[in-house]
Amino acid sequence: MPGAGLFHDERNMLSLPDGIRHLPAYFDSAEQQALVDDIRAVVAAAPLYTPAMPRTGKEMSVRMTNCGTLGWVTDKERGYRYQPTHPVTGKPWPAIPERLLSVWSEVADDPQEPQACLVNFYDAAAKMGLHQDRDEEDFSAPVVSISLGDACLFRVGGTKRNMPTTSFRLESGDVVVLGGEGRLAFHGVDRIYAGTSPLLNNGGRINLTLRRVKRPG
Ligand code: SIN
Ligand code: FE2
Repeated sequence: MPGAGLFHDERNMLSLPDGIRHLPAYFDSAEQQALVDDIRAVVAAAPLYTPAMPRTGKEMSVRMTNCGTLGWVTDKERGYRYQPTHPVTGKPWPAIPERLLSVWSEVADDPQEPQACLVNFYDAAAKMGLHQDRDEEDFSAPVVSISLGDACLFRVGGTKRNMPTTSFRLESGDVVVLGGEGRLAFHGVDRIYAGTSPLLNNGGRINLTLRRVKRPG
């Protein structure tokens, strides 16, 4: 079939770049609801805030917070980094909920616990440009991504920005693992499909990414 390799077909996982795994409907609706309850508690302790790009200070359309011993943050002055405290409240990030630690142990194939969980909230207009997750010291562990709420159009490519990309829909309850050769794959979110999930009362999409930040040992 001409061009078939360019498209991710849910019946044919082989069409994704090496090291990228899409696990559709990993969570049923009760599990998704429990995860949302966990994230509500995280957000109550560590409120969502609007991050800004390095140098330009341009605000991102996604709102963020974290849980874990470290959280990923960005601002105009100091750029992309991990830090142990919330940039607005100055308080330590809340712990990663047990349920998320379990997901990591099920899919990450890494003996250590994740240190950071970035919580991204997308409203109907939010998106995220193509980027690599490369602010960690060590890339031996994967990044594990969980989608909740409205669906999105997710794009993933190779380890160079100009490599071809594949786009596919991520639905509520889906998990994506960026590991091995896919750990440094460029990826982003082109659009949100508003109103496609009843999970969040006011709509929108939550994405959780579990990461190892420091070198093991
Ligand atoms: C991210 O790359 O941090 C988020 C990816 C997503 O929202 O699916
Ligand atoms: Fe990312």
